[in-house]
Amino acid sequence: IDDVVARFEIHSTDTPLPADERAAAIASPKFGTVFTDHMARVTWTSGEGWTDRRVEKYGPLLLDPASAVLHYGQEIFEGLKAYRHHDGSVWAFRPEANAARFARSAERLALPVLPAEDFIGAAAALVRTDVEWVPDGEEASLYLRPFMYASEAFLGVRPSLEAEFLVIASPVGPYFAGGVKPVAIWVAQDFHRAGAGGTGAAKCGGNYAASLLPQTQAHEKGCEQVCFLDASTNTAIEELGGMNVFFVRADGSVETPELTGSILEGVTRSSIITLLTDRGHEVVERRILLSEVREGLADGSYAEVFACGTAAVITPIGRLAGEDFDLTIADGSAGSVTMTIRGELTDIQNGRAADRHGWMTRL
Ligand code: COI
Repeated sequence: IDDVVARFEIHSTDTPLPADERAAAIASPKFGTVFTDHMARVTWTSGEGWTDRRVEKYGPLLLDPASAVLHYGQEIFEGLKAYRHHDGSVWAFRPEANAARFARSAERLALPVLPAEDFIGAAAALVRTDVEWVPDGEEASLYLRPFMYASEAFLGVRPSLEAEFLVIASPVGPYFAGGVKPVAIWVAQDFHRAGAGGTGAAKCGGNYAASLLPQTQAHEKGCEQVCFLDASTNTAIEELGGMNVFFVRADGSVETPELTGSILEGVTRSSIITLLTDRGHEVVERRILLSEVREGLADGSYAEVFACGTAAVITPIGRLAGEDFDLTIADGSAGSVTMTIRGELTDIQNGRAADRHGWMTRL
């Protein structure tokens, strides 16, 4: 890590906020609203490649109004977290998995591929500069948001010849306002997130923009998140607005939608599959029909449903509703498999349990 951090020039180490104001900001309950003092940045041009690795003061970006990102949405991002362990050391969870997915997203969006060393180096250089911002509370962490956008000022529709990569950081607690409590999910039946051959497996801003209207409709129905069905048949469950979904059967086996190319390959999703398998649960990745889930929830063969993602961690789902159904899952409270696996994952992330899969990287 020292080697990849050393590639970055530290342009600023100012800490504009007094320690007590920083402490108050870190305790901010709302996800993603407070940012640390600095940001990491690397610039790319087709002629020179990646140059000017630096950590600079957090602040507004200068954008030409003709920048490609503003017109055609050529942009990708990632989400990962840094955790403070009891001895004060700071660790990232599977950053190489985020770096690899970022590279796949870049290819799909015709953006340049950032080497994994620079992805991890930028995150580590930023965290080291702003280490005072890493919270140490039970559900708290420093959420890192790497992103890349097409910065060339050019209105023709072709891949940009210039791009900017940045990492910003935000101290966070639980993603949902209610904390770690069961949430309600609305199944969108008129909108889809992604289609075959589209950008569903890439983490690009446009996927999330497309989820906002159905997400708003979910809110209007009293639900925290929207669930999307597949675009070709409108019958199979894909994922939620910004997280993957798992179904726990009464017999202890667990199912999650298989990766079809239109579903985001979640790092938390893959970690949960590993942890469940370690505990002896059968985990099946398959095409899961909404009709099967409705029947299974009604007859009790599905016992628990949960959402997962870096931001959401593992969030129990207590209710699944749509235009013609409204089902409470079991008694609406968090299920035991859900909470056990959640505890195991967060214990590893927070250094309370052995990192037996080598998932943690010290920053
Ligand atoms: C994450 O879980 O990190 C995401 O990128 C999802 C976003 C909705 C916050």
